[in-house]
Amino acid sequence: MRGKRVLLGVTGGIAAYKIAYLIRILKKQGAEVKCILTPASSDFISPLVVSTLSGNPVAIEFWDKKTGVWTNHVELALWADLFVIAPLTANTLSAMSLGSCDNLLLATYLSMKGKTIVAPAMDLDMYAHPSTKRNLLQLEKDGVSIIPAESGELASGLEGEGRMAEPETIAAHIADFFTIKDLAGKKILVTAGPTYEAIDPVRFIGNHSSGKMGYAIAELAASRGAEVILVTGPTSLKVSGNRIQRLDVVSAREMLEKVQQIWATCDLGIFAAAVADYRPETIADEKIKKKEETLNIELTKNPDILKWAGEHKLTTQVLVGFALETSDLLKNGESKLNSKNLNLIVMNTLKDEGAGFAGDTNKVSILDDRNNLTSFELKSKSEVAGDIIDTVMKYLC
Ligand SMILES: Cc1cc2nc3c(=O)[nH]c(=O)nc-3n(C[C@H](O)[C@H](O)[C@H](O)COP(=O)(O)O)c2cc1C
Repeated sequence: MRGKRVLLGVTGGIAAYKIAYLIRILKKQGAEVKCILTPASSDFISPLVVSTLSGNPVAIEFWDKKTGVWTNHVELALWADLFVIAPLTANTLSAMSLGSCDNLLLATYLSMKGKTIVAPAMDLDMYAHPSTKRNLLQLEKDGVSIIPAESGELASGLEGEGRMAEPETIAAHIADFFTIKDLAGKKILVTAGPTYEAIDPVRFIGNHSSGKMGYAIAELAASRGAEVILVTGPTSLKVSGNRIQRLDVVSAREMLEKVQQIWATCDLGIFAAAVADYRPETIADEKIKKKEETLNIELTKNPDILKWAGEHKLTTQVLVGFALETSDLLKNGESKLNSKNLNLIVMNTLKDEGAGFAGDTNKVSILDDRNNLTSFELKSKSEVAGDIIDTVMKYLC
């Protein structure tokens, strides 16, 4: 979002207090933010908070009664790359759908040549009212994008649909708007997270994979226009992005089953999951009791999911694997690339500080099947996801 100009319109709903946080997110991501408040919204959030956080004066009225200076709504609309109205009240929604223009925010909306995105917020009966539905449909017909309200606890004390989408979700929609859709039309299978291999009803063998790398890849690919299927082992992560289908699995065998159902329909597979190599030979029906000093668990080899995908890869498909090694990184990576019929392998080692499982950063090298090796600096996992996808793009053309 670096350098992008976001005009943020705030209307008089209780969710206006969340806008302070949205401005922070947008500014952190490099956007330039200017805000227009409806007169009613300044009862819900102080213009001082909004101007301080955005770093720009706040526009509320058509003109200043003390100085006689007017705020040029046409200029504001021309300045903006994107107009976001959040929260959007039932009142402003109705005015927008009719083309009314009795405040500065509405005049700016009518002057806006670029895109407008809105995030409605109201009590559940207001949100469910036929006139609200009709007005939202009219806005969609007029080319406005709508971030649907979410379900949950409402300020009135009622529970239901009508809560404004969270600031992170609104920010993700804004980022999505600004992202080039160079993966549009592509279907991508991403695997992520660890697998858990049951020992008994309460215990399992697992690993420290957080899933962050795979989720970052899935989210970035979706924001670049791909249809993404994320097959994920157990993680605490949430996934955002409206082009991602998430399929939760627990064990390696469950992950294989999903991959076998999906792989043939995909253009690209990025297999970032840390799949357990072995699983207990038998799973005890009851919780194993503490008796002897030692306990032996017989392990048996798990299916090799990446190998299976390589063996069933069509010439039009691209397959990317990961190698996390503790020694002989390049040698082991190269052997995995060849033995599993991969196009690319992303290699990292736990010996590099900041690389590997749990953290928010990674340091990778990518080796391709034409023997090109590219090494990258330590970066955030979302930046690493960008490097991986940029490298893969050369194969997808
Ligand atoms: C405490 C309080 C909370 C309100 N919350 C909402 C809301 O969440 N959504 C909504 O559509 N209207 C809400 N309203 C009603 C609006 O403030 C009212 O319709 C106002 O005229 C909206 O003006 P605007 O659309 O120009 O900002 C609320 C009113 C009060 C007093």
